This record gives sequence, structure tokens and C-alpha cells, in this order.
Amino acid sequence: PVLVVDFGAQYAQLIARRVREANVYSEIVPHTITAEEIAAKNPAGIVLSGGPSSVYEPGSPDLDPGILKLGVPVFGICYGFQVMARQLGGTVAKTGLREYGATDMTVQGGGGSLLADQPSEQTVWMSHGDAVTEAPEGFEVLASSDATPVAAFASKERGLYGVQWHPEVKHSTHGQDLLENFLHDAAGIPADWNSGNVIAEQVERIREQVGSARVICGLSGGVDSAVAAAIVHKAVGDQLVCIFVDHGLLRQDERRQVEEDYVASTGVRLVTVDAVDQFMDALAGVTDPETKRKIIGREFIRSFENAAEALVLEAQGGEEPVKFLVQGTLYPDVVESGGGTGTANIKSHHNVGGLPEDLQFELVEPLRTLFKDEVRAIGRELGLPEVIVGRQPFPGPGLGIRIIGEVTHDRLELLRKADAIARAELTAAGLDDSIWQCPVVLLADVRSVGVQGDGRTYGHPIVLRPVSSEDAMTADWTRLPYDVLAKISNRITNEVDGVNRVVLDVTSKPPGTIEWE
Ligand code: XMP
Repeated sequence: PVLVVDFGAQYAQLIARRVREANVYSEIVPHTITAEEIAAKNPAGIVLSGGPSSVYEPGSPDLDPGILKLGVPVFGICYGFQVMARQLGGTVAKTGLREYGATDMTVQGGGGSLLADQPSEQTVWMSHGDAVTEAPEGFEVLASSDATPVAAFASKERGLYGVQWHPEVKHSTHGQDLLENFLHDAAGIPADWNSGNVIAEQVERIREQVGSARVICGLSGGVDSAVAAAIVHKAVGDQLVCIFVDHGLLRQDERRQVEEDYVASTGVRLVTVDAVDQFMDALAGVTDPETKRKIIGREFIRSFENAAEALVLEAQGGEEPVKFLVQGTLYPDVVESGGGTGTANIKSHHNVGGLPEDLQFELVEPLRTLFKDEVRAIGRELGLPEVIVGRQPFPGPGLGIRIIGEVTHDRLELLRKADAIARAELTAAGLDDSIWQCPVVLLADVRSVGVQGDGRTYGHPIVLRPVSSEDAMTADWTRLPYDVLAKISNRITNEVDGVNRVVLDVTSKPPGTIEWE
């Protein structure tokens, strides 16, 4: 693999993704890793990430100096570049000039292939206070800007390269080319990592792990569990049984998409638990958001456990025992929880379909090395329906936390209609790729006066919450075209009984969360 050394901030994950976009497998490691630990992983290249610190601050993150002597090609970015400069005998100084944002850069070239084929004037993304003022001895200076005399350096002989700017950020116009020059040319790593290989590798691993035992998987209707189950099914066929709990808080057509489209394309064995009444009874009279979440989580686990126990009991009838549970854990969750192996590090918030504590299953996690976009690519490769693979993130508690007020049958029906209209119009306008998700929220406890036909109405508002985001940790409200908003508003107020107003949420996150509850 290529190892991305994490110096803090969110840069490392972005770099790891860009490396994979170059068809090279990457893993994130903490900056406290030792040279021996790195050597043991036998990496083909190392990328040092940026970070929020100054190399001058006492206690600022450092790097085991042995790492630069391993003979493995290294590419330092921003803070990582400065750490390299310092360790190799160059000078990092507080120039008093800060560079932040889009910056004009003059590229002198040289350094072997690193900046070859790059235009001599280009715009790059900068974010730093300190600057490298003198390159280490024996290093060539490859680029400079007004505030940064040494903005890139290289020693081709030693295989050490670095840049002050952030090639992983899209605002750096030739950033991806630069990264690929390092990976493919400077470090000589072939571009051979792709979804086909990932599937083959996982299938092998799962077969080894599972043997002849049976496996269960909770399907939520979302992308992650759908893809995880499909890979496991490819590996062990009908040893896998999927459990799908219909809690009545799903969007329009979702149950059918899972029961028909998904099953048709994968051939998985599916057990649907019809738990709508159970959930409605449990939610009756409840308006507090956290209480709703707890109830939904509790009832979900209860339904899932019942279904799982029924399958476990079957084993007494001669079937193989159920020993494994599939989880759609993704790489960002693994990294954020310290990257430990073999343990279930799942944020309860993000995993309502999650792990029942007292059911002793071993986990199968075929997606734990992957980012979301890679999971989608694999789902497509496995032939899953686009309605599932391209699906927006949808919270485990479903529409239950998009009705502000008590959750009832009628309100769910109303919200399902409004949500389906918004989704259909966004798709028709070709906007699915430019938004992260668009929750549609019913303010069931708010009413406002309207006029429709000749009559006065006293109905509820629907809120549109379109957001753009990389990872849902932060988000901005999406500037949707007015004509698309107009169309959605028209259709919802005309077609959904009880709604006489559509409003737009123009709050970023923070301070607002993406969901309303
Ligand atoms: P918030 O509202 O916290 O949401 O900004 C961030 C992202 O997480 C989704 N979300 C959930 N997903 N179970 C989930 O699986 C949950 O309980 C849950 N709550 C929020 C939300 O849709 C957004 O993508």
C-alpha cells in the first residue's frame, strides 16, 4: 500500500481518497508510527499529510526520522513538507507572511518527473504560516510563490519529494496530476487497484473467515448494508440470510425496491419483518427527538433480534449454526475510532440497524477499508440497482425524525408524498450528484393560513433541507436553482393534501445539524 501519515486535521482522509482515485491502494497511519512499523507494512510509497500545527510549537507532531531513511519514496505535503525540510537540514522560518487559499505559483520544473508536464504558472491551494526558506542540502528547488521561496523540493536520488501546497484539494488545478506523478512516475507504483480486485479479495477473505457457518445481515435499504450483503452473498451464497425490518418510517417505494429489485439483482435470501404497528404503538404520543430516537433504536433491535433468534433456532433442525453478522462499517469510521482491527467501532447514532449487544456474533465487515464513493462503485460492479447504489444517506430512524411532532400514519403518508416529489424533481433536474442529501421535513406542530381555490386553508409547512458536504461532519446549504425550487414547491402544495407552504432551510452545519431532530 501507500501509507498516508496523518498529522491531524481532515487532510489525511482526503489524500487517501485521491491516492485511491489514482488506482493505488492507500491506508492512513498515525504520525506516531515508528520506522520499523512502517517497514513491516512494506509500503510502496509514503505521503506525509498537512496538519493544523506549526513546526515551531512545542509538542507539535513529529515524525520518526528513520522513516525518511527507509529507502521508500516519500511525498510531503504542507506540514509534512516542513517536517521533512527540518529533519533533512533545511530551514523553516516564520516569515510573517501567511498564505491562505488560492495562490499563484511559479513552477521551475526539474525534480525528475514530479512537476514535469506541469504549466509554469498555476493556481494552487495554500494554508500555512511558516515557510521553508532554504531547501536541505542536495535538494533541488522546484517552485516558489511570493511568500514562499521554497514551495517544492526534491531529491530524485533519495526518492524524497515535497510541496508546500495542497494537491489533494480540488482548487489546486493540477493537484491530482502532481500526486499521480509522484505515485506512478517518481515511486513507480502501478495503477492497478480497482473495484474488481477489491471484490475478488474480499470474497476470498470472507470465505476463509466464515467457512460453512451461516451469516445474517440487517438490510436498512441504504447503500452500505446493501453492498456489504451483496459481497458476502457472492462469497458464501445462501449461507447468508438478510433481515429487513419495515418499521413504517421508510420512504416511498423503498420496501419494494429492497424486496424486489435488490433481491432480483443479487439473489439473496430475504426475511422481511413487518413491524409497522409495533413501531407506531411505541411512538404514539412521543414528540421529544431523543426519546423518538431511543424508541426507534430499541424497537429496531428487538425486531432484529427476534428474527435472528428464529434463524438461530432453525439451526437445531439440522442447519449450520448462525455465527456471523455482517456490518457495513466504512473506513472513515475505522479511522475516526483509532483504526483498531477486529473490534466493532460503531457510533450508536449512525447505526440504528446495529449490533444487538447480547447476541454473540462475530462480525464480517467487507467494507471497512473503503470510502463511500468506493462502496458505490463496488455496488455498481456487483450489478445492484441504481436506486439503491445511488441513494442519498438516510438516517436509521428514518422519517420518524423528519416529522417535527408526534409520528402518526397520516403524517407519514403526507411526508412520504412530499419527499417523493422533491426527490423526483431533483433527479429530473440532474442534481443528484451536486447535493449530498436533501431531507424533507414536516412541521407537524406548526400551521399557517393559506388560500387555495376560493378557500382558506390552515395547513402545515414542508421544509426542504438540501445540503452539500464531503462527509456530513460539516455542510453548507445547497444553492438550488430557483426554477427547481419553484417546481418542487408547486407540486407539493398542489399534490399533497394538508400542506400549503414550502420553505427552504438556508443554514450551514454548524450551527444547524443536517437533520432537524
Ligand atoms: P446530522 O443531523 O447529525 O446528520 O447533521 C449527519 C448525517 O447523519 C445522518 N444521520 C443518521 N444516520 N442514524 C444514521 O444511520 C442516525 O441516527 C442518524 N442521524 C442522522 C444524517 O442523515 C446525515 O447524513
